[in-house]
Amino acid sequence: MSATLPDEIGDEEQLDELLSRPSGKLVEMMGRLEGDLAILGVAGKMGVTLAMAARRAADQAGVKKHIFGVSRFSNPASYDFLQSRNVEPIRCDLLDAQAVGRLPQARNVIFMAGRKFGTEGDEAATWAANTVVPSNIAQHYVRSRIVAFSTGCVYPLVRPADGGCTEKTPPQPVGEYAQSCLGRERVLEHFSRAHGTPVCLLRLNYAIDLRYGVLHDIARRIHAGLSVDVTMPTANAIWQGDANNQSLLALELCASPPDILNITGLETFSIRQVAMEIGREMKKEVSFAGREAETAYLSNSARATAMFGSPSATLPTMIRWTARWVQAGGASLDKPTHFEVNTGKY
Ligand SMILES: NC(=O)c1ccc[n+]([C@@H]2O[C@H](COP(=O)([O-])OP(=O)(O)OC[C@H]3O[C@@H](n4cnc5c(N)ncnc54)[C@H](OP(=O)(O)O)[C@@H]3O)[C@@H](O)[C@H]2O)c1
Repeated sequence: MSATLPDEIGDEEQLDELLSRPSGKLVEMMGRLEGDLAILGVAGKMGVTLAMAARRAADQAGVKKHIFGVSRFSNPASYDFLQSRNVEPIRCDLLDAQAVGRLPQARNVIFMAGRKFGTEGDEAATWAANTVVPSNIAQHYVRSRIVAFSTGCVYPLVRPADGGCTEKTPPQPVGEYAQSCLGRERVLEHFSRAHGTPVCLLRLNYAIDLRYGVLHDIARRIHAGLSVDVTMPTANAIWQGDANNQSLLALELCASPPDILNITGLETFSIRQVAMEIGREMKKEVSFAGREAETAYLSNSARATAMFGSPSATLPTMIRWTARWVQAGGASLDKPTHFEVNTGKY
């Protein structure tokens, strides 16, 4: 992304522009990437701006690329929005293998569909979403390269001083959501090995948009005069614009058996300290709840940084943007991350 970042972000149009701004590296990559692009699970919190970033990169590279985005479109507004940005929306329930079989082929696939919240009490639905859907798409897109979103929650909780889990840290998922995410990885790995399909698994820790995310959750609680839970003592997060860029660049990493890439920010931050900084920026008192545990979900993004460079937005920038956004009554998706949960129960 361009080095010129604004002091604050005034509205959703400006926010979407920043979140979908393609880096020079991404424009170059789109220029040489053969074939069309399918984004599966496009209508979620990240998919819309990721699809916009892909479209802008292809346009700036001057290449013709058909980009289509698949979802059930539970929120119908994103259907029209994507269409207006030259991304073709296709309604499909990816759990339905026959419907998946009718989707157009594409040489490049970004797989983003998944289920997290509501797992507790309806575990089977999460397992189906996170393992049956990958099986459907892996069998349909056998000749594609597939970048699949996973999560840093497949790793064990670790002490902050240990530097975060690297891609070589053995998975040790806590709770059924995280276990089903490892299931998603294993299903994709199975089909990658069986058919030679090139795959890259992205273990993402907390994308930061101003309408949701860890910083948004903290800022909203402070703004409402509510306490901030510090049970999860520390976290990593990355500006969603950078996560979008890195995820698309990962198309060139796809391999069989799958490659694995951590995507998160460089900083490991203390929830307490970040809350204090947001409070200072908002000129609000901050109160806390819970007791800091010794371990947290922490990933090491050294590999992504070595390949793609440092994320464009630093933690202090994201803190300032978020505090001002929430203070000004900026839009919220009202979808809490539940970053404080360290029991694996969502
Ligand atoms: N955002 C983060 O900070 C973060 C962190 C770690 C991991 N991740 C992972 O990264 C991926 C993208 O993140 P996100 O925040 O954009 O996720 P998200 O908000 O849950 O979006 C995924 C979208 O996939 C679609 N989908 C789910 N099941 C489907 C089905 N059966 N058929 C068709 N579409 C389906 C849903 O849209 P419809 O209801 O319209 O179908 C949903 O909104 C997810 O897998 C997520 O778990 C995200």
